[in-house]
Amino acid sequence: MNKNSDHPSSFDNNTTSFPIDVDENIENPKALSISHYRNIIKDFFNYLLGIIKTRKSHLISVKYLLAFKNMHRFSNGLTTDLFSFLTKNKKSQDKYIFNDLSNVVSSNEVNLAKQAKSAIKKDGYFVFPHRIDSELIEELKTFSLNQPAELCPKLTDGTTHQVFNPDAPQTNRYNFGDADLSGLSAVKTLSRAYLFRSIAEAYIGRPPVLSAVNMWWTAVGSETPSSAAAQYFHYDYSHPKWLKFFVYLTDVNTNSGPHCLIPGSHKSDKMGAAFRKPNRSRIKDSEIESAYPGKYLELCGPAGTISVFDTRCWHKGKMPTLNNRLIFELYFTSHGVGDKLPDIHTSIFGNNDKLA
Ligand SMILES: [Fe+2]
Repeated sequence: MNKNSDHPSSFDNNTTSFPIDVDENIENPKALSISHYRNIIKDFFNYLLGIIKTRKSHLISVKYLLAFKNMHRFSNGLTTDLFSFLTKNKKSQDKYIFNDLSNVVSSNEVNLAKQAKSAIKKDGYFVFPHRIDSELIEELKTFSLNQPAELCPKLTDGTTHQVFNPDAPQTNRYNFGDADLSGLSAVKTLSRAYLFRSIAEAYIGRPPVLSAVNMWWTAVGSETPSSAAAQYFHYDYSHPKWLKFFVYLTDVNTNSGPHCLIPGSHKSDKMGAAFRKPNRSRIKDSEIESAYPGKYLELCGPAGTISVFDTRCWHKGKMPTLNNRLIFELYFTSHGVGDKLPDIHTSIFGNNDKLA
């Protein structure tokens, strides 16, 4: 399981568990050396090569992914936009996807998918008007209270896994990943929902890869926000393009760790360039407020609330102060990283999936 994020499936720009080395923060641009510019040129060529190699492939190598990430920073996101444009399915996406979909989902869901796609494109997020069934919530919640979770951070005595006790949390976050969750029927139901996959396909611009499923408790108890639990503003970058679906499994209000974001900041805007280019990883609320006055949004809702984000936007999980929060995540991406599709993708969709 990946760490250091409010969304543990992501390799955030502030993570230390990125599968490849991440450049250290560059706090003083004047100190940039010739070798730094040499690296930029190298990244640029690898970025171009990466586009060619990944255009028709569902996989991306770590080398190209690192180049994509570095170029994203250097160009303030423009190279990521260019990649999306160049690799977009040549067919009209709406025609390609939603006509297919109309055979398997109701017309209401087709309309909802269209609505979600345009909202994500414009604002970077969408909150669904309906919630998941209480049976699904109960199955996931029961599992989370009875199985050992990965502790983040681990305890001072070295303990790495423990069953979550809501009355006496021992650390900030209790994580469950692909291996823990893939056998649960609720996870299969949510992962296979055509509505989610079709929205991911429409937004990403190609058949999406399911790169991770995650669930985690964010616990009350800290006095200060945790960087390890992604409680400072950051953006994610783990694939050329991606989309994350979240389901609150507990009621979430301003005191129980809501997702916070800056709507619209998933675009290559000027306001975020000061943080994006130097790879700032722990951005204070006051800095975000000064760059995006009045834009800060806390996403609250009852258990079962479904949302979808392009977590390229500035976002964080607010530190809970009164109630623990349980959340489930589906993580769809444009590619798998490495030489094969993620096990969770094959496990959920089988070997006969159109990507395989
Ligand atoms: Fe994140």
